[in-house]
Amino acid sequence: MAVRDITEGVLSVGVIDWNREIFDELVPLPWGTSYNSYLVKGSEKTALIDTVDEAFDNEFVANLINAGAGMVDYIVVNHAEQDHSGALPLALELFPMATVVTTPRCRDLLISLLQIPEQRITVVEDGEELSLGNKTLRFIHAPWVHWPETMLTYLVEDRVLFSCDLFGSHLATSDLFAGEGICAPEKRYFAEIMMPFRKQISEHLARLEGMEIDFIAPSHGPAYDKPEIIMNAYREWASDDLKNLVLIPYVSMHGSTAEMVKVLSDALIRHGVGVLPIDLARQDTGRLAEALLDAATIVLATPTVLKGPHPLAANAAFLVNMLKPKARCAAIIGSYGWGGRTLKVLTEMMPDLEAEMLDPVYIKGMPNEEARAALECLADDIFKRHQDYNIV
Ligand code: FEO
Repeated sequence: MAVRDITEGVLSVGVIDWNREIFDELVPLPWGTSYNSYLVKGSEKTALIDTVDEAFDNEFVANLINAGAGMVDYIVVNHAEQDHSGALPLALELFPMATVVTTPRCRDLLISLLQIPEQRITVVEDGEELSLGNKTLRFIHAPWVHWPETMLTYLVEDRVLFSCDLFGSHLATSDLFAGEGICAPEKRYFAEIMMPFRKQISEHLARLEGMEIDFIAPSHGPAYDKPEIIMNAYREWASDDLKNLVLIPYVSMHGSTAEMVKVLSDALIRHGVGVLPIDLARQDTGRLAEALLDAATIVLATPTVLKGPHPLAANAAFLVNMLKPKARCAAIIGSYGWGGRTLKVLTEMMPDLEAEMLDPVYIKGMPNEEARAALECLADDIFKRHQDYNIV
């Protein structure tokens, strides 16, 4: 990636990964990603903010040369995850006099994950500042975006917030700055990575309210020269606001469960409630995560395979539990052939889901009139609860 100026004395020296298809062997990346790193040149000292994924060592070195990095005095590590710290051992070889600056928790992780020598690391407290001469770095401890050690770094004079994974997006683009609107990659990224930490993120956002920020320079995706756009989006996503929407992740082997989904969807639509059925055999988990961010109700639909839920439904239940969506209601529907413990297994897989569990509709074979009536009742129930919660 070409080296470019964020503002005077602040250079983007990271790399674009145009071809990466999956992250953490879990998160699909339909738009690739980038690993952002920034060089801050003060009148007396130079600091590197984060590094890049180890796979891009060579390109990173070329960028540092092109940026005229010269001597780097400090390497600020906002986050220990290897997509940002993977090239740290190389950077420490390139700049033998450089000191790693990070949080106490990150120090421990850098030592255990990357065997970084402890004597090369200095820890900073929340609010501590570091002078580079005419530029000052202020460190803001921001745990759980999305690891416990995460930190933001603020460049005081230029009002640049190096925000770590916060405000990022898995998007490979040659644009240095994001455009005027929020795009799908940013929302999906929040849903996949930040949703479980909405409470902590709201607290961090409140803390940023009083700061003057001209630029946000995140660790993935484009930077922002209009920070309010992404900050407003985060305020909404981190809030308790919900849409009048029922998300229906489903699997169907021979059509019975799909027919139940259709009956339920039609009934909800007649009530004016939005529906989003997601076929788990055909849609990726990123789409599921994104939908979980807004939906007021989640209805998981599955056939019974042998003694329990279809494995794709079990995987979806596990993800729902892990991502902790803000949905107010949830239900399970499905069809079985000769028995099984599907309801019990799925319910026990979602202990962290705070939504109220509505009565399930669990039937034998294809939905008959009685089953269709039960699904209509479930739709009525969901509609009334959305009304009660003022989700319209
Ligand atoms: Fe982009 Fe949590 O690393």
